[in-house]
Parts: sequence; structure tokens; C-alpha cells
Amino acid sequence: MAKKMSVEEILAAARAGKAGGSAAPAPKSETKKESPPAKEEALPVAEVVSESPPAAAPAPKAAPPAGKAPAGGKGMDMAAILAAARAGKGAGSAPAPAAKPAPQKEAPAKAAVAEKPAPKPAAAKTDGNGATAAPKDTASILAAARKSAKPGPMTKAEAAALAKPTEPAGKKKLDVPPMPPKPDYARPRPAPAQAADAATRRSFISAAAGMLFGSSLAIGFTSLAATHLMWLLGTARFMFPNILIEPPTRFKVGFPDALAPGQVETKYIAQFGVWVVKYEVEGQPMVYALKSVCTHLGCTPNWLEAEQKFKCPCHGSGFYKDGVNFEGPAPRPLERYAISLADDGQLQVDKSRTFQEEMGQWKDPASFVPV
Ligand code: FES
Repeated sequence: MAKKMSVEEILAAARAGKAGGSAAPAPKSETKKESPPAKEEALPVAEVVSESPPAAAPAPKAAPPAGKAPAGGKGMDMAAILAAARAGKGAGSAPAPAAKPAPQKEAPAKAAVAEKPAPKPAAAKTDGNGATAAPKDTASILAAARKSAKPGPMTKAEAAALAKPTEPAGKKKLDVPPMPPKPDYARPRPAPAQAADAATRRSFISAAAGMLFGSSLAIGFTSLAATHLMWLLGTARFMFPNILIEPPTRFKVGFPDALAPGQVETKYIAQFGVWVVKYEVEGQPMVYALKSVCTHLGCTPNWLEAEQKFKCPCHGSGFYKDGVNFEGPAPRPLERYAISLADDGQLQVDKSRTFQEEMGQWKDPASFVPV
């Protein structure tokens, strides 16, 4: 035949049930020549065939006799038809059984071929005018798929609508039992009672403040009450006067024999302000107690053992061991305290009595203890 049939025409004829001898034998030799361009035009078919060429080639060899195949071609799947077309056997009866009785090793490949080409007849659908539509390539299929999507950015609502998961129809909503009611102790106390108490307190305080500071008479009485209160406090303080607790005026300083002749005992200075001296005055050995107060202005002199004198640090007055002044501004000798022997034989100093040399009081027997 002079007219060449493409793969699409063969497919259309196969779907129309014209797989008989008119279409099949005629293009047998020509179909072999046009099969290469068919791989380029029908993309899905070419891909399937190119992926498993060895599987498609031996199919016709293992095919059973043509008479066993369905005559009308309705029982053939598209994969088998395409395989038959690629193999150059355009007859509708021959390729139909070719795919099924294929060798066992190639069975998976053929199965893949039989599954994938299933949607391909859509490419061979006729358009509105009755003519077969041209097969779509991958770019056209992607473009058609993208047409349905909205180009450009989308709003939040649209994005949320797209991202909103669809709840499966068979999913059941959990049946949660209601929460038990709170016990009485867990419930908050009624606030109105507290508010009423607070309001009562506030009103009482404001009333008292108004009574105290609301009028000049109230101010006067308040001031009088405050004055009386301060007077009472002063009286109470008067009941506890300031007193200076001093050491006792009488105290014992040990036995006379404990002192060495010519010794000046200074250990009672800090507590009692007294020097206890065992010395010979005017040819009489005695023990006497000198008052550690300078007769100039009242400073406390120091006993200088090396110099055997009392020296006042304030203005430099000097006193001998017997208490007589000999240098500095001191106008008179040191004073003596009364001293006596206690019942136990110890020396006892009495600071309540003093004896002054310039007044001739050192001759008083109470001013010394003879030893
Ligand atoms: Fe002692 Fe002046 S107070 S010398």
C-alpha cells in the first residue's frame, strides 16, 4: 500500500475494532519503516518500548497462533497493541497474545510494560472534530498541570486552605467525658464578704481620722493629749536617773609585808587611781596611798621607776616618791588617801578621805600605816 500509517492510526484502528486483516496485513512492511518516528512522537509509548526492547522483540516469536487470539482486539490491552505495532506486526490478532505468553525471565518487564501504558490511550483520544489528538509530550503535560495552579503569590487564606489537612472520613472523634465538678473547698470564697469587711474598716478609719483632725477643737484636744503623753514619758524617765557606777571607795591592797621597802605599787592605778608606796618619810617607814591626780590641772602622772619620780605628761610637773612636787607648774604635793589595816591584816584604802601636805594633814595617823 502506498499510504503510510502511523502508530496512532494503528492504535485508533485497534480501538475501533478494526484489527482484522484489512489493517493488519497492509502496513506490515510499512509499519516497520515508520516505527522509529513513532517512538519520537508518542512519548509514553516510546519510553516504555525503549526501556524493554528485548522483552518486546521476542514477544511475537512466542506468540501462539493467530487464530487463538481474539479476533476483534477488544481483549487486548494497550501495551500488547503497542508492542505489536513496534514489532511491525500491525495485525490486531497477532500482537494481542504476544505479551502474555512471553518467556518467564522477561515476565516482570512485560508486566511493567502492561501496567504503565494503561493511561496512554488518553493520548490517542479523539478531539472534538473526531480526529485523533496528537500525543502530548512531557512539557505539554506539565504545562497543562500547571495551568490549574494559581500563578504568583497567594494570600494567607489561600495558603491555609491549601495546607488545611482534610480529615479522613472514617476517623472518629474522641468521646471525652466531662470534667467532674470542683469540691467545695476548692471553690474560691465569695468576694462580696471580703469587700464588705474592707469597706467597713476603711469607713471606720476615715471616721476616726475625721474625728481627730476634722475640726479645730479636735486638733486642740489631740495636741493636748499628745502633750500629756510626752509629760508622762518624761516623768517616767525621771524615775530612772543617770547614775555613774563607780568602784567602791574602800578596797584592800594586800598585806604590808608583800611590799618591798621603797616599792611603788602601780597595779591599782587603772581601777582605783591609787599608788601604794612603802617608803620612809622623815625617818619613819610607812605605807601610804597617793592620789594619782596632778595638783596642777588634774592630769594623771606616770611613775618613772628609773628616775624614781612621778612625772605629769601634761605640763611636766614632777613629784618625788613621797609626793612632794619639785618641778613643773604643780603648786603643791600630791594628796594622800586614808589607809588602815583591816581585820584580816590587809591594807585597806579609803578614798572618801584625803590628806594634803600643805595643810599639815600628812601627820594624821589615818594618812599612813607604820611598818
Ligand atoms: Fe600636771 Fe599640768 S596637769 S603638770
